[in-house]
Formats: sequence, C-alpha cells, structure tokens
Amino acid sequence: TQGLSPVRRVAREVEARDAAALAPISDADLPEEITPLTHALNKLLKRLGHALGAQRAFIADAAHELRTPLTALKLQIQLAKRAGSEEERKMAFAELEQGFDRAMHMVQQLLTLARQEPGASPQKRENVDLAALAQQVAGTLASVAHDKRIDLGVSRADPVTLEGDPDALRVMLENVVENAMRYTPEGGAVDVAVKTVNGGALVQVADNGPGIPAGELERVFDRFYRVPGTAVQGSGLGLSIVREIADAHGAEVKLANTAPGLKVEIIFPGKL
Ligand SMILES: Nc1ncnc2c1ncn2[C@@H]1O[C@H](COP(=O)(O)OP(=O)(O)OP(=O)(O)O)[C@@H](O)[C@H]1O
Ligand SMILES: [Mg+2]
Repeated sequence: TQGLSPVRRVAREVEARDAAALAPISDADLPEEITPLTHALNKLLKRLGHALGAQRAFIADAAHELRTPLTALKLQIQLAKRAGSEEERKMAFAELEQGFDRAMHMVQQLLTLARQEPGASPQKRENVDLAALAQQVAGTLASVAHDKRIDLGVSRADPVTLEGDPDALRVMLENVVENAMRYTPEGGAVDVAVKTVNGGALVQVADNGPGIPAGELERVFDRFYRVPGTAVQGSGLGLSIVREIADAHGAEVKLANTAPGLKVEIIFPGKL
C-alpha cells in the first residue's frame, strides 16, 4: 500500500482539474507498471486538447462568417426603410430576402455539419439503394437544372445497396450535385453515375464548368473555404459536410479536373 501513495496523489491531482486543464500527467515518481497507462492517458489528453482547440477555432470562424450576411441584412433593412418610391422599396425587399436566404443557408449548413460530426448523434445503419438515391437527388434538382438550362442526368445507375445513413448519404450527394449545378455556367451539363467496381461502389458527379485550380483541390474541403473569386454565393461548408459523411461511411472523396469541368468521385471500398 506504501507503493500506491504516489498513485493516489496523481489521482487526486487529476480529479481536482477543471475540464480545460489538459496538461500531461507527470509520471515522475509513479511505479513503472503504471507508466504505460499515464502515457496512454497523456496521449488522449493531447488529442482532447487538439479537438478542443479546433472546436474553439470553429466557433470563432462560424461567428465571424455569420456576421457577414447579418451585417448585409442590417444594411438592406436600412435601405428598405429609406426607399423613396414603391419601386425602390420592392427592390430593397428583394435584396433583403436574398440576404436572408443566404444567412439561413449558412445556418442550415452549420447545423448539418454539427449533426455529422463524429459522435454527435448515433449514425443510422440501414440498407441504402445508392442508384435510387442518385435518381432522387437528380429529380429534386430537375427544376433548378431546367431554369439554368443545365443538362442534368443520371447516365448510369448500377444496382448498389450499402449499409449507411440514408439521410446523411442524401445530404452528401445533394451537396456534390448542387455544387456542380451552381458552378457550371448556364447551358452546361452535369452527369451523375453510380457504378460497381472491384466489389465496391463509386458515385461520380461530373460537370463541364470551370473546375477548381489544382492548388485549391485540397483546401476546398476546409470549413468556410471558397476558391477566391468565386462569384456565386455559398457558405464554403458543402465539401466539409461531404467529407464528414463519406468518412462516417468509410468512403473516400476525390476531386479531379477534367478540363473542362470537375469530376467528384465518392469511393466506397469493397464491402458490398
Ligand atoms: N463543381 C465545382 N466546380 C467548380 N468549383 C467548385 C465546384 N464545387 C466546389 N467548387 C469550389 O469549392 C468551393 C467549396 O465548395 P463547398 O461546397 O464546400 O462550399 P460552397 O459551395 O461555397 O458553399 P455551400 O456548399 O456551403 O453552400 C466553392 O466555393 C467553389 O469555389
Ligand atoms: Mg457547395
């Protein structure tokens, strides 16, 4: 029992800590058999520290990013108040509504991202028909495609069923197809394909828009990151959401420029 007293002392020290005190536990005078445990705990504390830091940075970024559309809204409200004519008032309100939609979209994307964080909520595990999902997503975007004169189609839909969260997988596919639709100019084409390969599955979304500069292909997955000069509005969260959902399903996301256009591949390795 004599030998345990340093253990008790360390236990008391750890117990007294507050949730933010993540400094490593000193194992200076602990019995040797205990040190693998303290090392493992210290590694965990380090990971927790990184995760906490990332969360803090994310909240700061989110607040900053939300302030931009909200500041614009404030300005638009002032303009609407000052409108001299009915015509001016109508225009101001139309802009106000657009600004509102932008802020709302960002909140929606933030919420989706929060829900997809690992450990945020238990992931549903159901059999999901990927081909049917691709058809559904293309179907819901048909009117947008029509308005923008984009030729949106599902060129191939191999029968693929995998185990996963159907809502999350839909959100993932929607974000990729929406990007293709949004960044491809009027009159372009967007093609969705679901293929079986090597006992796994592959979802491809190809467009013939501008693609993404080679140096930005990794960064576009960062939260809030948008390629500089992107004219169309967006919150910069779509691909972060896509990657999070793919990760949760053991899938990999690859981007490639096809000159012209971007090809997004989501690869579910062989486990069908
Ligand atoms: N198909 C594409 N063609 C060209 N550029 C793209 C395409 N998809 C994404 N990008 C670029 O990558 C950036 C990040 O995309 P992401 O989906 O993460 O955010 P977003 O579309 O800007 O906003 P959100 O999806 O949250 O509304 C976009 O801003 C755009 O610059
Ligand atoms: Mg997007």
